[in-house]
Amino acid sequence: MMATEDLTQAVELTEPLCHLSELVDGRSRGFDPLGEGRDTMFVVRQGERLYGYRNHCPHYDQARMNWKKDEFLNGARDRIMCFAHGALFDIASGECEIGPCLGQRLTSVKLTVRDGQVWISGPYVPGRPRRSS
Ligand code: FES
Repeated sequence: MMATEDLTQAVELTEPLCHLSELVDGRSRGFDPLGEGRDTMFVVRQGERLYGYRNHCPHYDQARMNWKKDEFLNGARDRIMCFAHGALFDIASGECEIGPCLGQRLTSVKLTVRDGQVWISGPYVPGRPRRSS
């Protein structure tokens, strides 16, 4: 099931995520835009294209996807990978192509580049804590 965001908690950011030159072509990087103490989103750079997604796997409630800081890609760096159960996602669409959440999508975060700075477009919703079971 696709997670929905509570837009009533959305915050308009006043700072960019980083400078474009800080994003390495072909690599991913995590960000904590609201200072929540963990990376709640990440960006993948492919040339001049940037792809932003929430750090939530659609397979399992709010699961974080990276196995260590800034590592959101598989070994070939041609797919986004969730390290919990190995789901692989298309970088451009965020759609799961292999894995337990086949056909589901990551939640995209729209980005813009202004004066060389990378910004989140529009308000940003805080990450939700995992449900306790
Ligand atoms: S939590 Fe991501 S593949 Fe299972």
